[in-house]
Amino acid sequence: MINSTRKPTAIERFLLHIHPNKIDERAIKFTNTFGLGGINALLFVLLVISGLLLRFTYVPTPEGAYNSIIYLQNNILFGKLLRNIHYISATLMVVTSFLHLIRVFYKQALFFERSKNWIYGLFLMILVLFANFTGYLLPWDQLAYWAVTIMTSMLEYIPLVGKPLANLFRGGDVVDGTTLINFYTLHTGLIPLLFVFFMSMHFWLVRKAKGVIVPQKDEPKMVKVYPNLVSKEILVALIVLASIFLFSIFLDAPLLNKASTTISPNPSKAPWYFMGVQELLMHIHPVFAVFVIPVAMIVLFFYFPYFKYNEVNVGVWFNSKNGQKLSMYSAMFAVLLTSILIIISEYLIDFNAWMPSFPAFISTGLFPFLLFAIPTFTFLYYWFKIKNSPIIELVISIVTIIITSYIIMMIVGIWFRGEGMNLIF
Ligand code: HEM
Repeated sequence: MINSTRKPTAIERFLLHIHPNKIDERAIKFTNTFGLGGINALLFVLLVISGLLLRFTYVPTPEGAYNSIIYLQNNILFGKLLRNIHYISATLMVVTSFLHLIRVFYKQALFFERSKNWIYGLFLMILVLFANFTGYLLPWDQLAYWAVTIMTSMLEYIPLVGKPLANLFRGGDVVDGTTLINFYTLHTGLIPLLFVFFMSMHFWLVRKAKGVIVPQKDEPKMVKVYPNLVSKEILVALIVLASIFLFSIFLDAPLLNKASTTISPNPSKAPWYFMGVQELLMHIHPVFAVFVIPVAMIVLFFYFPYFKYNEVNVGVWFNSKNGQKLSMYSAMFAVLLTSILIIISEYLIDFNAWMPSFPAFISTGLFPFLLFAIPTFTFLYYWFKIKNSPIIELVISIVTIIITSYIIMMIVGIWFRGEGMNLIF
């Protein structure tokens, strides 16, 4: 613990407004949160500032957008650096928001007085993805144009509402100038406003729950937030800022040729964080890939705090030592199963020809789904029969399997798909 008689600076006084005066000493430990929530907030501020500066030269039309980016990079002092900072912060925010989400989940910080904040957090995660996706189109290069074309046409697979929904986003049947202005308005207007609302509620609810989670068993030892927590927050913020600036000097945001509405790049890929969905589409019926599975996941994530659990050790990583072991085995199981199924579907079984007399929904949808679900169910069943684990650890295990499988599919899609989306090694 640090004792200080020095008066807080203006920044420190601002930080004190969003914290209580005293806090449990264990909550300050870096490994309790890894500072991820604060890093997200910092990235948001950096994105707003760099985004506002980018707006000075950006022209939101198909004729002007690409050239305005070239102009910014070549003719404006630090223009390229500014664009890189915006791009790297946005990419990082997808990663840190996701890590923050799983930190909250694996520390069981989503129950009781924190359940509402978990829901606000999920909306923030959706906003992070949506902000990233709408920004993706703005450079209007081949990468942007075709990634958004792929993503919006994926939406069309959703039964009944798919086509109208895709048309709503695009402002018509194809990605064009209307889509660009729609995305620009969402990206630079509506989404940041929604962020401010959800983040304010989020911070307020963290305070209402008396700070971040700690294990409930021991007696709390309260220490002053200033300087104990505030000094650590400032240190983390400086390290993050310095790293982003450094990376932005050496790592350029991608920019291919100006978008051609007729010639697509080969392969055409979705933005990296949606590559898991594009990979899934290559193995399973589209209704499963873009509707049944994602909707089931979203419902599951929103419902987590409200399941009936018998034994929850809030604030304890993975609920117990046994839970830690189970999560590790679940991740290994998911890596193995997902890799094997990708190889089976790619080289060994053509699901379309496998059961020609069945409707495609069954032969290419339900059947591959069961190939994943049955081994997973068997794995979970035996583990829980042998170890008699509590329900919460079953849920942790299921989530670990889902997340790991998605990451494997994303990796395969990003790095192991070449021309014609064929597997390459
Ligand atoms: C823009 C995105 C986000 C920002 C700026 C943000 C910010 C924060 C901050 C500053 C904290 C307190 C410190 C910490 O736990 O690191 C926090 C806690 C929390 N966040 Fe987030 N968060 C974001 C996204 C999310 C997401 C995606 C989820 C999960 C669905 C989530 C759920 C929670 C919960 C439940 C807590 C309370 C945790 C506890 O008491 O230990 N947040 N968030």
